[in-house]
Amino acid sequence: MEVIVCEDAIAVGAHAAAYAVRIAKDVGPEVVLGVATGSSPLSTFEHIAQAVARGDVDLRHARAFALDEYVGIPYDHPLSYHDTIRRTVTEPFKLDPANVHVPDGNAQDLRHAGELYEAMIHDAGGIDVQFLGVGGNGHIGFNEPTSSLASRTRVKTLTVQTRRDNARFFAEGEQVPKHCVTQGLGTILEARHIVLVASGSGKAHAIRQLVEGPVTAMCPGSVLQLHPDVRVIVDVEAASELQLRDYYTDVQANLPSWQQLPTH
Ligand code: F6R
Repeated sequence: MEVIVCEDAIAVGAHAAAYAVRIAKDVGPEVVLGVATGSSPLSTFEHIAQAVARGDVDLRHARAFALDEYVGIPYDHPLSYHDTIRRTVTEPFKLDPANVHVPDGNAQDLRHAGELYEAMIHDAGGIDVQFLGVGGNGHIGFNEPTSSLASRTRVKTLTVQTRRDNARFFAEGEQVPKHCVTQGLGTILEARHIVLVASGSGKAHAIRQLVEGPVTAMCPGSVLQLHPDVRVIVDVEAASELQLRDYYTDVQANLPSWQQLPTH
């Protein structure tokens, strides 16, 4: 796991975007992106959109798979992940909407919808670069604590903490859905490259557990320790509980110049 500590959330986004753009260019026009929702990846996505607008990278033939979706929320509800991905990824990256996929939280048969989603990722050749945020409780995707470390795309019940955290996006009186369809931890681990971003002190404990704690279903993100190519890009606040934070910063400062990426 490569831990990169940046000054602030904007630098986190710039760094993550530069890394992803480099992978997209290496892979070629049909790169397969794994995209997340929530506030964490927004700065990254804005920086990628700027790279697209400048002509640094062409994503018109790229494909994208979202991590998760709420169950029972209309596709065009502004807080559905279908609509969120359209606004934050499909349009700004200039992707072809036909190539962008989000799990179907309105399917009659949700179990089958999960299996279909797995098959679609497989048929696309797997995910080249997976963007992740992390929940305050260590979830990635919506794999809540005690999720199987080998899980596949399926229905999960959201924890009270996650529903409370996400209530900030919903209008007063509107209920945060109780269930979701999410890629599993086993699904996420199959991505070729993973970039997890986090900022703010609210993520410090989860980042500590994820990077330095034991691999445990109680902190689902800790399963990333088993993946050979993960970048954890955090700001100083999210890094504040890391026991080895001086070491990570040193490693970064001493990287040979060809490995360094702009952080702003
Ligand atoms: C979103 C997702 C979640 C979020 C996590 C952090 O698709 O899968 O794991 O990344 O809940 O959310 P924010 O970034 O809003 O703090």
